Amino acid sequence: MSQAWKKSAIAMVAAGALVGSLAACSTERDAGSESTEGAGTVEETLVGIAMPTKSLERWNRDGAHLEELLGEAGFETSLQYADNKVDQQITQLENMINQGADILVIASIDGTALAPTLEQAAEAGITVIAYDRLINDTPNVDYYATFDNYGVGTMQGEFIAETLDLAGGAGPFNLEPFAGSPDDNNAKFFFAGAWDVLSEYVDSGQLVVPSGKAPASNDDWQSIGVQGWSSDTAQSEMENRLNSFYAGGTKVDVVLSPNDSLALGIAQALEGNGYAPGPDYPVLTGQDADQANVLNMIAGKQSMSVWKDTRTLGDQVATMIQQIVDGETVEVNDEETYDNGVKVVPTYLLPPQVITPENVDVLTESGFYAAEDLGL
Ligand code: GAL
Repeated sequence: MSQAWKKSAIAMVAAGALVGSLAACSTERDAGSESTEGAGTVEETLVGIAMPTKSLERWNRDGAHLEELLGEAGFETSLQYADNKVDQQITQLENMINQGADILVIASIDGTALAPTLEQAAEAGITVIAYDRLINDTPNVDYYATFDNYGVGTMQGEFIAETLDLAGGAGPFNLEPFAGSPDDNNAKFFFAGAWDVLSEYVDSGQLVVPSGKAPASNDDWQSIGVQGWSSDTAQSEMENRLNSFYAGGTKVDVVLSPNDSLALGIAQALEGNGYAPGPDYPVLTGQDADQANVLNMIAGKQSMSVWKDTRTLGDQVATMIQQIVDGETVEVNDEETYDNGVKVVPTYLLPPQVITPENVDVLTESGFYAAEDLGL
């Protein structure tokens, strides 16, 4: 992690709205209602932070920032990474519950697998915040904090439409669409946002999908999903499509990739198939502004990424934790979108931002990366 990034995290802590001794969380709630009481001090409050994996760059930043922010504010924290293994994450959560956690912040691996564990959390009076990924099929998730996931997909779809001038009738272009991990609720929203922009151009014939892997509807997104957001799996899938449907000179013009880890594998497959940066290089989307992908954008191997300043997500979650501990109303800004199959989870949505080679300075000026991190 870049030093600049750590310095800015500490600076944010110093300027943060978090204050010292406050009532802590000893919440009693019936299923489906949010915790509303706090009694104790920050120092007595243990926050369990469950992150999915270290193998995807962004989660290392998420966990480190939240741990640092809460630690600086006086909370006790337990940060765990589960190597993208659902059973491991469940065990970690059970351990946090047994350690007496007051609040759990969970970036789930499989959002449909935690209901029994969260039943235990509810019985222990623990407040649960779903972090960036919605947890489904349980009343025992109190809040959700994330970025506008549908908006992320819309940005990807609109970038493709504008770059290719689809509204102006341009085409036909060869498109290969990808979607995220089938067990990640966010991936459904990323795909829907993009496909709600692009599907009309598939219907009109301006976008052609030579592999045939065009989902019939938004609900069919898992048919092109990449398990665990794996770069290797995305690379293999793109290689298979190139070898099977792009022989004899047919070229791919645009690839919808929902995030940067998939885009990294897809760019490797394109390079291995003879595609080089330049006017004929496909439009390739992404998300997370991972360092390797920003470097690829600068090198002309990726067209855009959707930046979610994960520091602001950590800041918002820390503010929610402070409000829970204070027994205050927890601030949310979306109480309609995120139905988890049992209830609509009160949510705080943060805005994402498009990054292209033309505005990577947004990342350095904000301190998210140091210029030297990007070879600038
Ligand atoms: C999603 C997350 C994205 C993407 C992916 C891989 O749930 O919202 O930022 O990076 O996980 O970690």
